[in-house]
Amino acid sequence: MIVREVTLKDIDALVELSKTTFFDTYGAKNTAADMKHYLETNFSKTVLCSELKDVNVFFYFLELENENVGYLKLNVGSAQTELKDAKSLEIERIYLKKAYQGKGLGLQLLKKAIAVAKEKAVTYIWLGVWEENPKAIQFYKKNGFEVFDTHTFLLGSDMQTDFMMRLNLK
Ligand SMILES: CC(C)(COP(=O)(O)OP(=O)(O)OC[C@H]1O[C@@H](n2cnc3c(N)ncnc32)[C@H](O)[C@@H]1OP(=O)(O)O)[C@@H](O)C(=O)NCCC(=O)NCCS
Repeated sequence: MIVREVTLKDIDALVELSKTTFFDTYGAKNTAADMKHYLETNFSKTVLCSELKDVNVFFYFLELENENVGYLKLNVGSAQTELKDAKSLEIERIYLKKAYQGKGLGLQLLKKAIAVAKEKAVTYIWLGVWEENPKAIQFYKKNGFEVFDTHTFLLGSDMQTDFMMRLNLK
């Protein structure tokens, strides 16, 4: 099992994995129109290519026997979706394919985020998680994150609430 940085050569695989995992996570609780709009807007080749080129954005694949089973998207500095604190790092996305969830693999991606945060000398990691995603909330709490705020998040036409969670680094 390896965690490796995603490059422009991986763009097709990144588009595919981003769409599949997002749909599997939220598809059942959102309208087809909202999902379609979100996937087309946020996971197009153009958008993901420009994010890959951003020096403040980092994508990683979790590979298991040559299969990409999950990925991680980290933002620092001005690339963060909120806060934009020079001393923080945002986990914007951490996703495993359905068949690989609940086996402790998410920790491998979280460990990568912590390693990058330490390398960048930031003092805390933060993220937003949908209030209706108990599995992810449980995963973050289990690994030391605490809720510090809430914010709203637009999925298509539906305004939703995210918990903002943070992990202070030693
Ligand atoms: C969130 C995610 C990265 C966690 O990785 P993981 O390897 O599956 O996590 P773990 O196996 O360590 O733990 C998952 C925890 O959720 C718990 N869980 C599973 N289903 C649950 C549910 N319906 N309600 C509450 N908790 C649940 C598990 O019991 C486990 O907690 P425990 O170890 O205390 O028993 C992964 O599940 C995932 O990719 N989910 C879909 C995408 C997603 O939601 N990403 C986060 C977006 S903010």
